[in-house]
Amino acid sequence: MNAPGLLDAPLRLGYAVATNPAKGHSAMTDRSLLILPGDGIGPEVMAEVRKVIDWFGTRGISFDVSEDLVGGCAYDAHGTPLTDATMAKAQEVDAVLLGAVGGPKYDVLDFSVKPERGLLRLRKEMDLYANLRPAQCFDALADFSSLKKDVVAGLDIMIIRELTSGVYFGEPRGIFKEGNERVGINTQRYTESEIARVARSAFELARKRGNKVCSMEKANVMESGVLWRDVVQEIHDAEYPDVELSHMYADAGAMQLTRWPKQFDVIVTDNLFGDLLSDLAAMLTGSLGMLPSASLGAPMENGRPKALYEPVHGSAPDIAGQGRANPIACILSFAMALRYSFDLGAEAERLEHAVNAVLADGVRTADLMGPEGGAPVSTATMGDAIVAKLAASV
Ligand code: IPM
Ligand code: MG
Repeated sequence: MNAPGLLDAPLRLGYAVATNPAKGHSAMTDRSLLILPGDGIGPEVMAEVRKVIDWFGTRGISFDVSEDLVGGCAYDAHGTPLTDATMAKAQEVDAVLLGAVGGPKYDVLDFSVKPERGLLRLRKEMDLYANLRPAQCFDALADFSSLKKDVVAGLDIMIIRELTSGVYFGEPRGIFKEGNERVGINTQRYTESEIARVARSAFELARKRGNKVCSMEKANVMESGVLWRDVVQEIHDAEYPDVELSHMYADAGAMQLTRWPKQFDVIVTDNLFGDLLSDLAAMLTGSLGMLPSASLGAPMENGRPKALYEPVHGSAPDIAGQGRANPIACILSFAMALRYSFDLGAEAERLEHAVNAVLADGVRTADLMGPEGGAPVSTATMGDAIVAKLAASV
């Protein structure tokens, strides 16, 4: 079982996150952020988020920001991808903003100290069980998808990926000797309560959107999938009968996502299928450089959920340090922080509109150039353009 009370405390998604300033804190400093830029393009895209944060500061919406290391850079400095001190800081703040981790330089490291372990430790120890990955197609980018324009134009779906269990964390795991050969083992394991809480997150979110949930697993071959399907159905029948629920095998789900993605509203799925399906869904929208994510856990004492926000894209070592990366996914991740951690839905929308307006003006980073080419702008120019739109919106 998980911590008592977790099952009774579904995430308060959308606009209902309580803001309950702790005693003795002024309203000005009651929003704490830990920024972990990480590796590869992480620091470049995060620098643009800093500009956005600073802009909100000039509008009276300020954040208490601290910065630290995660991933390969933390390993270089401390011999571990996440120090205990950084982990403790992450537990204390209202929200963590993470850039990206990893790079070829670290491929040779032992599994236990790979950059990715830093990220997985944050997810596990903060118990961030609901990973929200929206796939929205911006109008100006409908031509960029590898699918036909009418299949993706206006697309707005939300994948909720279970993030703290399943095959990513199940035991036993490892590479063992069996007779005269090696065997690699990972374990897919889900408890009822782990399934129930992420199902509740999906139903809560669906009620604020199109009121539809599609749950994906492989109940045809996996017992954990049979349990997943049962528990999602039970939670639905008992608590969310008003939400439309369907079930799909994850392989068929992948097929349907490319055939007609607009049939979906909210998709809820396990950790590994969610990893795959969210990359697939991201690409429907034209570029992985556009997709934000929020990883949420149970509410803290101040009513805000444990939270980590990060772009879905990785560290992109091939373009790191060149000023070519698209900062939009990271900036939109901050918009999700405004909405889900700080109850600043109007400000989140303002930021999303600014991004939309910049794209509508034809401002493009290299990943958004399309086959006909053109002159891409730099990471910094894209960030500046978004801040300029924000400023113009008041
Ligand atoms: C993601 C990434 C991570 C994952 C890696 C970096 C550990 O692919 O967030 O989707 O597999 O979860
Ligand atoms: Mg992934």
